Amino acid sequence: MQSTLDAATRGLHVAIIMDGNGRWAAVRGKPRTAGHRAGAKAVRRTVEAAPGLSIGTLTLYAFSSDNWKRPPDEVATLMRLFRDYLRGQTARCVEKGVDLRVIGRRDRLPDDVLAAVRAAEESTAGGSTLVLRLAVDYSARDAIAAAAELLAREGARSGAEGDVREALSGHLDPEHPGAGAARDVDLLIRTGGEQRLSDFLLWECAYAELYFTPVMWPDFGAEQLEAALAEFRRRERRFGGLARVATG
Ligand code: FPP
Repeated sequence: MQSTLDAATRGLHVAIIMDGNGRWAAVRGKPRTAGHRAGAKAVRRTVEAAPGLSIGTLTLYAFSSDNWKRPPDEVATLMRLFRDYLRGQTARCVEKGVDLRVIGRRDRLPDDVLAAVRAAEESTAGGSTLVLRLAVDYSARDAIAAAAELLAREGARSGAEGDVREALSGHLDPEHPGAGAARDVDLLIRTGGEQRLSDFLLWECAYAELYFTPVMWPDFGAEQLEAALAEFRRRERRFGGLARVATG
């Protein structure tokens, strides 16, 4: 039987900044919340397509810690969509072997969302086809700062030394300590035409290939994911080294 760690380390780690829901709705004369509802459908399409495209870990930026600044009705709609997604997709995730995890702060989530997170994580734990991570109330800077703080406290207690990078990486997701060190992102996709990282997986994206597309998130699906991966495969990854040369 494959362990969760197998699932997490096999295949590519693709991360997506799902942008453009509001603009997608605006051009259709609809409220922003309609864009988010259409975005939730795009999440389902993308998750279904991922395992068939050699993706082992998929991390989706669903709600940044700065998104609390949005109007209360938009925040409430988003929270409802997360809760409904978790409740509605858990059985499908179990069936398909998807290990669903939520990363980010939990202390500000509404009780019903938190309960749905815990239930979904418990039911899907050990799925070995895909690790699906939803980033909710997530800030990469906060995650790195919290990991450093935790590490400093532990270090002060034990006086231990070691590979600080490895140790810090292992503390980036304190809700899933069994998951081990954070996986580097291979490919970061941002939809909606903007070209920035918006405080998403800053540590894990150190050597990620970046792919920006004008496609609005609600229009994203298997075909667009495949196009991003095709572009990724054309890139040469050097990780600071030199280009591969023909040896003749
Ligand atoms: C950014 O688009 C999108 C968000 C802040 C929310 C992402 C949420 C979803 C895709 C739907 C629900 C998610 C799950 C996991 C069920 P924007 O609103 O900033 O778009 P804009 O730049 O066009 O205004």
